[in-house]
Parts: sequence; structure tokens; C-alpha cells
Amino acid sequence: MAILNNLLLFTSTFQLLLLLRVSSESSQTAGDVSQFPTKFLELAKSPDVFDWMMRIRRKIHENPELGYEEFETSKLIRSELDLIGVKYRYPVAVTGVIGYIGTGEPPFVALRADMDALVMQEAVEWEHKSKVAGKMHACGHDGHVAMLLGAAKLLQQHRHVLQGTVVLIFQPAEEGLAGAKKMIEEGALKHVEAIFGIHFTNRVPLGKASSRPGSMLAGSGFFEAVITGKGGHAAIPQHTVDPVIAASSVVLSLQHLVSRETDPLDSKVVTVSKVNGGNAFNVIPDSVTIGGTLRAFTSFSQLEQRVKEVITKQATVHRCNASVNLTPNGKEPLPPTVNDVGLYKQFKNMVGDLLSEESFMEASPIMGGEDFSYFAEVIPGHFAFLGMQDETKSYASAHSSLYRVNEDALPYGAAIHASMAVQYLKDKASRGSEPPKGFHDEL
Ligand SMILES: *[C@@H]1O[C@H](CO)[C@@H](O)[C@H](O)[C@H]1NC(C)=O
Ligand SMILES: [Zn+2]
Ligand SMILES: [Zn+2]
Repeated sequence: MAILNNLLLFTSTFQLLLLLRVSSESSQTAGDVSQFPTKFLELAKSPDVFDWMMRIRRKIHENPELGYEEFETSKLIRSELDLIGVKYRYPVAVTGVIGYIGTGEPPFVALRADMDALVMQEAVEWEHKSKVAGKMHACGHDGHVAMLLGAAKLLQQHRHVLQGTVVLIFQPAEEGLAGAKKMIEEGALKHVEAIFGIHFTNRVPLGKASSRPGSMLAGSGFFEAVITGKGGHAAIPQHTVDPVIAASSVVLSLQHLVSRETDPLDSKVVTVSKVNGGNAFNVIPDSVTIGGTLRAFTSFSQLEQRVKEVITKQATVHRCNASVNLTPNGKEPLPPTVNDVGLYKQFKNMVGDLLSEESFMEASPIMGGEDFSYFAEVIPGHFAFLGMQDETKSYASAHSSLYRVNEDALPYGAAIHASMAVQYLKDKASRGSEPPKGFHDEL
């Protein structure tokens, strides 16, 4: 198995180098690295890049695809990469695409976009409304893809000045199906030293970006429990084992995990968001199903274990049995998203150079989860929010059926992506980078 893996590694790295060397022979001159990053913003705002991104984003918006089903989205990405002459690996994690721009040599720095939509009905009436009933891009991933393609275009135009390789990661299944984890398992981070991700937000003004060092988004998990008793006549409770009472007790007891067992200065959430059981006025049901989510920055698995324990033991108090599923519908728990402090500083400085010092806003941690966290667990990562709020309209928050992307944010995202990659490689080169251990042995 190990030998086979090494062989595959050898083949793919070798092919990659070959591909990139061939393609870089035809590169044209386009200024030197000192003009970045301001130049990237101008270019990203030019119709050649901006209109192109908008067209791509609208096309994806019209045809939203769920996790691991992003076949048309992936096809569109590949055909656009073909058009601008960027080589890629496909498929990775079913529908994922990984593009490569630059020397084909270390250092390797990655930029990431997610591709999947949500199970929702779009309520916005506009020309490019979702054409698929019950599916919608309500988290802006259509725009994330367009921005990363925009960055690819900028970087490809300047590929001869890149002091290393930029890896473009288009991942499937961010919304609860751990697409990032699968991408990593299939080698997406091979040789990669650092990774950057961007997400739209309506809480930051257009033209500004926001992030923070350390914990930024919470670890997030789901639970579902079936509490089983013995149903019967609602007027003769002594002949039943009532799961409604047991479930009620469980819901209340779960609230004590945060209020009584957690440091008040350490943020955690346990929410029971669904309770299903019974459908008559005079019948005690056999069972009740409850479900919800838990969020934490620290001690996530301990909280999971306590959720399980409280549900089963509290059910027992009421003579019921409970089974608890911590990965309902295959939804795996996500680690917290933690930003590397060094990358955060680079990012903040870069936004200052690209836009202005006031264009960077320090973010507060939020309890939402992101599967970018899987990448940032393996290598240093930085996740940032990109503002889209402006005075003219109000923008709904993510996962709302009224969600809209402010397309004027696209050039900022493309320029930020491209600038971060160039900056990272430049800094690395000035500090003299060592190829990853074993890199040349493989060749
Ligand atoms: C709970 O499980 C035990 C052991 O399997 C069983 O004996 C008991 O009848 C169950 N109770 C209910 C209410 O289902
Ligand atoms: Zn989302
Ligand atoms: Zn999202």
C-alpha cells in the first residue's frame, strides 16, 4: 500500500512539474512583483475579469448543486481553467478540482473556494434566480467559485513572476458533508504549506475584509436521539412509559451543560432545535425524537460525550431508553476554525496595502462552523470574511431564502486571493524557503 502511494505521488508530482514547465515557456511579461497588490484590484475591476466573474457566478447560481453533486459546477470550473490555460487535477473528492499556477516547485500555497448549494427555495425574484426547485446558493459559494477563478486569471497573467506554486482548491460539500476532509484524504494538501479562504458576509461593509488571529469559528456538531418508552391511553398513564416526559426532561437537562458545566468566559452552545413525537390528543406515543446542534471552541468531544450521557441517563430516570446519533444523516462534527497568527498578520498588512488600513476590521469569534477548519488543522490556515454591505440595499444573512451576493464584492475577493498568494510566496522567497522534506527525493 505504502509503495503504491509513493509511486502515485511520484507520478503526479513529476507530471505536474512537466505540465507547469511547458506552460510557463509561453508566458509574457507583465511587470514585477513590487507593483502588487494594488495592480490586482485594478485588473479585477476591469470588465475582462469582473464581467467574466459575474457571468460565472450567475450561471452557477441558476443551477445550484448539493454536496458531492456539483458536476455541472465542476465542469464549468474546468472549462474556464482550460480557457485561461491553467492545469488541474480532477476528480478529487468526487467533484473537486485542484488547479496549479506557477513554477511547479515549492513553496506551494493554496487558495480555497467551496462549490455546494443548500436545500432551500430561493425567495429572491431576479433574472438569474435558481432554476432548481428546492435548491439555492444561499451561502455565496457561487460567488466564492467566481472569485477564485478571478484570482486564477490574475495569477495566470502573472505566472512568470510567481516564486513558487499557487494551488487552487475548488472543494465540494462544505455544508455539513465534510468535503474538505475528503479533499485532504485525496491529497489536496500535498506539499502545501499554507492555505487561505474567503467567505462573504453581510456584517462587513463592501470593500472591507475582516478576520482575527486564533479561534474564529466554533467547532460544530449535530445530534439526534430517539427516546423510547411504551405508548398507550393518555388517560391511563400508569400503564405506559411516557417518552414525552422523558424528552422534556432531557431538553431541560441539556441546558445545564452550558449554564453549569462550562466556564462562563468560554463560549459554548447546546441547542435542541427539533422535537418530534405523538400526533393525537389522547395517545401517549411509543417514542419521541429530538435533535439539535452543539458548538464549542474548546473541549468539543467532552461536550459531545456529556450530551450523549445526559440524554441516555435522563431517559433512564423516566424508565425510557435512548439511542443517540452524533453523526445524523452523515453530518460529521467540524473542528473549530483557528487562524494562524503569522498568516493573520500578513493578511492584515496585505489588506492595508491593497485597500487601506481602515479596510481591515478585527472580527469577533462566532459560533458558526466552516469546514475550512479541516485544512487549517493540517497546515497553517487563514479564513477571512469579505464585506458586501452597502448603503443602497440590505443584504440578508447566509442561509436565508432572501440571500443575495453583492457582486461588487467579487473584484475585492479575487484581488485579495491573488495578492495573498503572491505575498506569501514573495515573503517565503525573501526568507529563503526549504523545499518540503522529501520533495526532491520523489523526483
Ligand atoms: C429498555 O431496554 C431494556 C434492555 O434492552 C429493555 O428490557 C426495556 O424493556 C426497554 N425499555 C423500554 C421502555 O423500551
Ligand atoms: Zn453555509
Ligand atoms: Zn458558506
